[in-house]
Amino acid sequence: MITAILFDMDGVLIDSEEYISAAAIAYFKSIGIDAKPADFIPFVGAGENRYIGGVAEKYGVELEIEQAKLDTYAIYEELITGKESALPGVVRFLTNAHKAGLSMAVATSADKRKMEINLEVMGLNLSWFTVLINGKDIERKKPFPDIYLKAANDLGKTQEECLVFEDATNGVEAAKAAGSLCGGITTSFSDEELRAVGADFILTGLDDFPDFSTIEEFNRLLLHYRGREEALKTRLHAYTPYSQFRVGAAVVSTRGNIYSGCNVENSSYGATICAERSAVMQAVAAEGEFQVDMVVVVTDDDPPAPPCAICLQVLAEFATPQTMVYLYDLQGTCVPYTFSELLPHPFIFPTRRDQLKG
Ligand code: THU
Repeated sequence: MITAILFDMDGVLIDSEEYISAAAIAYFKSIGIDAKPADFIPFVGAGENRYIGGVAEKYGVELEIEQAKLDTYAIYEELITGKESALPGVVRFLTNAHKAGLSMAVATSADKRKMEINLEVMGLNLSWFTVLINGKDIERKKPFPDIYLKAANDLGKTQEECLVFEDATNGVEAAKAAGSLCGGITTSFSDEELRAVGADFILTGLDDFPDFSTIEEFNRLLLHYRGREEALKTRLHAYTPYSQFRVGAAVVSTRGNIYSGCNVENSSYGATICAERSAVMQAVAAEGEFQVDMVVVVTDDDPPAPPCAICLQVLAEFATPQTMVYLYDLQGTCVPYTFSELLPHPFIFPTRRDQLKG
């Protein structure tokens, strides 16, 4: 169960990359170097020393790094003040998380000064963050896990109780190396890039996240996102030489485990198995007589294709009329159904009806 959230700052709570890059370019200009925005990309999320120092190295200049950073932050504060606020959805998400009772920390590789400027510019309620960690508190920067190990420890949480929100590949690597669940936010890197380094699910921003009022509700939303991610990934393994129609499905059990499957076709068409059934088989193999909490299906279809009648009949054995079935297309459009909307009258063997009423 996730009971704490560790937030990276830049690109998750605030989009200051544009301003810090403009400030750094202005700083380099002041010392006679014509740096380009692309020069900074390899150092995003790796701490300010590398951000400024890496580019200085590239141009072969030696800097007194502490002074260079202070000069850059002075320009940064001027550029960003009054212009930038928290990213869309951040205040709403934090309000929900605080009311639900989740512990929260900011864990940024940025310097203290930059963290302070940003937190002030965003106007957030700082008392909601029990722990604030900046780059100075940590020796080994992301992608090392140290910052997230310290954040969890300072909150009095285990790594498994923490969800990290990150927008940079270095940060996702740090979160995963620490052993936490990690939601990737596509402010600075693509979903493929974040997925490739191990993000457990992807959001375009915290404004994607629906409202929630309890820790349990929050955890179910995480299962929904993780299920979608598993379905998306497993869909890529679909064996579809005949239809070319790939389907990925994830079945979340009431024990909170996620099982995924893809469609596997066969020259003998009757031997073809759908993604949903293939996921159910995994669940039964792992848990035995399990109960479905929710189902997520991903297809390249508009509107997203619902499970076929055979899959629904198989699912009926493990679902209740209220079980949610979320259908996604590849663009991320979600069409939610309750199981009873999709198959109002499943055939259940007479002696089993009482057990499967839900
Ligand atoms: N398919 C599924 O995987 N799930 C469904 O519920 C409907 C259909 C697959 C089976 C076949 O490989 C392809 O889609 C075309 O029918």
